[in-house]
Amino acid sequence: MNILAIESSCDDTSAAVLTDQGIQSNIIASQSVHLKFGGVVPELASRAHQKTITQTVEQALEEADVSIEDIEAIAVTQGPGLLGSLLVGICFAKGLALSRNIPLIGVNHMAAHIYANFIDHEPDFPLISLTVSGGHTQLVHVKSAFKHEIIGETRDDAAGEAFDKIGKLLGLPYPAGPHMDKLAKEGDPNFHKFPQALLHKGLDFSFSGLKTSVLYYLQEKEDEWIQDHLNDICASVSFAIAEVLVKKLKKAIQKTGVKTVLLAGGVSANSMLREKAQQMANEMDVQLYYAKISYCTDNAAMIAITGKMKAERGQFDDLDMVPL
Ligand code: KG4
Ligand code: ZN
Repeated sequence: MNILAIESSCDDTSAAVLTDQGIQSNIIASQSVHLKFGGVVPELASRAHQKTITQTVEQALEEADVSIEDIEAIAVTQGPGLLGSLLVGICFAKGLALSRNIPLIGVNHMAAHIYANFIDHEPDFPLISLTVSGGHTQLVHVKSAFKHEIIGETRDDAAGEAFDKIGKLLGLPYPAGPHMDKLAKEGDPNFHKFPQALLHKGLDFSFSGLKTSVLYYLQEKEDEWIQDHLNDICASVSFAIAEVLVKKLKKAIQKTGVKTVLLAGGVSANSMLREKAQQMANEMDVQLYYAKISYCTDNAAMIAITGKMKAERGQFDDLDMVPL
């Protein structure tokens, strides 16, 4: 089945084409309009989606060398996300589905982050996914396809949000996660010991205390000193975040006895997290998967693969589908 997928839940407009030969294109138009605000401005995001969605879809078809006449279903992110942004993708997808008389498939964004791992791999069920993005931090027990149970989640900030907010304190551009990752590679993770919250309390996470702790730490320092030690600070913050994520993932494995684990979401691109998770997986003798970087952060390829899995199960949507 040839599927055209559209993702517009936050600040990336993305379109992808999936055929029986796999992902043929995955175009991602990132919005630069938010840069000067240090975060995503929802109204600007939906307007930017409207401006770029047509050309993004055209580019995805062109790069895949598939014509719109050969597309057999449209998959689109149904939520969660920014309402105005979601609506742009959903309305576009509905219009196309109606005009081409082909089925529509609404896809859950968080599920799609998990199934991004199925683009290049074939993980076995049951599995545990550590889904870490800008808006969510979840440990998900996936018993079989689309049978998800959230067994742990953040009580306040998401892991990506922690990277972004702490990066902002350090003067890094938004989103700060990838910048912190790069600087951390040159730094000492043991330079300063930042707190790891809720370590002995079940499978839930908390990152707001870490953010406050970094704020107080930086308030006592001169700007020049901070600039001189940026790599070490980024490495120490990344250490605190990655350690707590992997320790909780290990706990989830022990609790469920599951032998397959996935890293998913934008933060799963983080090199320290990948390294620590791999070490833990080797020690625990479990199979670890993570997707290539362009499938970790928001993208339509993950919507396409999830759409395909839903189509195989006969799960299509009507044109009165609404954002979730
Ligand atoms: O999944 P995603 O693209 O969007 C949401 O659904 O939220 O995740 C975005 C988050 C941002 O917070 C960004 O800073 C973070 O993922 N991120 C990273 C890295 N790449 C993206 N965080 C740490 N290290 C990275 N390499
Ligand atoms: Zn996402």
